[in-house]
Amino acid sequence: CSMVETSLPFYFGWFLCPTQQEKLRNMANEFLSAVGSLEAFKEHVGDFAGEAEKEVNLQQYFQDKGVLHCTTKFCDYGKANGAKEYAEKQVVRESYGSKADLVLTALFLTPRTLGAQVSLTEAQLQLWPEDAEKEAVQSADLPRGSRAHVTLGCAEGVDPVQTGLDLLEVVLQCQQGDKGEHVQDLELGPLTYYGKGVWMVKLSEPLNTPAIFSSFYG
Ligand code: A2P
Repeated sequence: CSMVETSLPFYFGWFLCPTQQEKLRNMANEFLSAVGSLEAFKEHVGDFAGEAEKEVNLQQYFQDKGVLHCTTKFCDYGKANGAKEYAEKQVVRESYGSKADLVLTALFLTPRTLGAQVSLTEAQLQLWPEDAEKEAVQSADLPRGSRAHVTLGCAEGVDPVQTGLDLLEVVLQCQQGDKGEHVQDLELGPLTYYGKGVWMVKLSEPLNTPAIFSSFYG
């Protein structure tokens, strides 16, 4: 019926509970403070601030993008490819409103975005669109779910969709044998620099985050 046609959401995803959002934001702040104060970061500050500036305040650099979540399918109210098919999948209908434990394995920042990498379980991958990685990087065969992330902030003028693309670039770089440069061990875990202002800390204790599979209408 036409109700179905008009009721497709802006996107589907796992939404973090408020206490978990706060925990993750605190962790992200810790990450920004730690990276921002490193000599190694200051040497590469031009990636963030342009040649003229010597310093950048990362806390101010990244703007908050609202409720923390891991997007599964961006539907754009039905305008996005495969939106209707996704919404009608049995597993999507059955999982709607259910709780999942997301595992966050890394935090990363680039001149464009700040995000957390999510490592999906086999069960969670059932809700992951087949073509999420291919849609972003046509030329490579990236593991399913490797785009999964939580956007924690974006530089001025950057849209959140960029966070997953930035993450895939790191995944691609690693797949091609470039493991980056180990900078030092932060309290959160080992920090790697991938060049061009891309920094990632692999969490020595992955963060388990309860989240609800639902949708956002905006
Ligand atoms: P993300 O999942 O990286 O946070 P916006 O605020 O730009 O309208 O986006 C709303 C949400 O949908 C954000 O969570 C965003 O990115 C995600 N999103 C936007 N566009 C796309 C897209 N083309 N593909 C996948 N996710 C998208």
